[in-house]
Amino acid sequence: MFSAKNFSPQQLSALTALTISVPIALGLYVFNHSWWVALIYLAVIFLGSFGLILFSLQTFIYRKIKLIYKLIYQTKASKREEFYYKNILPQKSIDEVREDVEKWAEQRKAEIEVLQQNEAFRKEFLQNLSHELKTPVFAIQGYVDTLRNGALYNPAVNEKFLQSTSRNIDRLVNLLADLDEISRLESGEQKLNMEEFIIQELTKDVYETLDITATDKNIKLIVKKGCEFPLIVYADKEKIRQVLINFIENAIKYGRQNGLVEASFYNVDGRNVLVEISDDGSGIGEEHLPRIFERFYRTDQARNRKIGGSGLGLSICKHIIEAHKQTIHVRSKIDVGSTFGFMLAARKSAREGS
Ligand SMILES: Nc1ncnc2c1ncn2[C@@H]1O[C@H](COP(=O)(O)OP(=O)(O)O)[C@@H](O)[C@H]1O
Ligand SMILES: [Mg+2]
Repeated sequence: MFSAKNFSPQQLSALTALTISVPIALGLYVFNHSWWVALIYLAVIFLGSFGLILFSLQTFIYRKIKLIYKLIYQTKASKREEFYYKNILPQKSIDEVREDVEKWAEQRKAEIEVLQQNEAFRKEFLQNLSHELKTPVFAIQGYVDTLRNGALYNPAVNEKFLQSTSRNIDRLVNLLADLDEISRLESGEQKLNMEEFIIQELTKDVYETLDITATDKNIKLIVKKGCEFPLIVYADKEKIRQVLINFIENAIKYGRQNGLVEASFYNVDGRNVLVEISDDGSGIGEEHLPRIFERFYRTDQARNRKIGGSGLGLSICKHIIEAHKQTIHVRSKIDVGSTFGFMLAARKSAREGS
């Protein structure tokens, strides 16, 4: 439809020229009664005013618009763009120009939001990192200073201080290993080493590695009844081992004395395997659940009790599972316990056969 808002400059000029020339020609005809004089006037005034109006529109308005276009696209006009500015842009109605500018503004807004978000992430990351480094480094500094100031020759404390120093150095080394792992995962430069393996066997392997830690708290590590039937998955075994270690370590660390850690495995729809690690420990408050997989995120309880690690473990797990194009999840209730789980692709050969 011909809507007043969508006039191109040509149409606008023609319409204005008509509104000027028609009444004048009509007036002349009324006084003169000579239709051809009126027609000549009509033509002359129409053409003259049309040209004039179009010229001023293009010169004064479209020049400015061209400038805006150049600014928003930040271009140095190439030949093609010059053609565009000369021939196509003047055909555009003001409305279309407005749409273009609005589209541009929206794109910029989205870009700025992403940048602001990244900036906030970066700040938070640096803050967290320096905080994590501070604690062990200051502790080491303290112990070494005390040793040098005489404690080294005091057999009652020297061994203890050295052990504490060593423990803090371990903490730093672990933190650096986690950071290294996360930066490699985030840069995406690590390739997955996919193979078929039985997920229960890997879990039992991890159970064995963590047996001593679990025994310290008298926690039993078991496979849920009915989940013993071997399920073959297709994944990067060493990476999945890392995820299981993190889950089970957490389940022990945040589990209760004399508690239970239970692993369960389900074949979902024949194509995927669901793996879950449950504990009957302290649980995680609802307000923390959405953030639990973020880098450095720990619940207040984990911070205060000083049993927590770097807070990078779950974030590494999430990266690993997402690199497998699968999902990671958590369910938890305070004082009841937590269940962490993820999906893996079922054996490759089975899927190819189906
Ligand atoms: N099984 C669990 N039970 C209760 N809280 C947990 C459990 N697993 C993880 N959390 C919470 O999630 C936080 C993040 O875990 P993680 O990334 O592994 O860090 P870390 O183990 O180094 O503290 C922990 O600090 C803890 O607060
Ligand atoms: Mg952990």
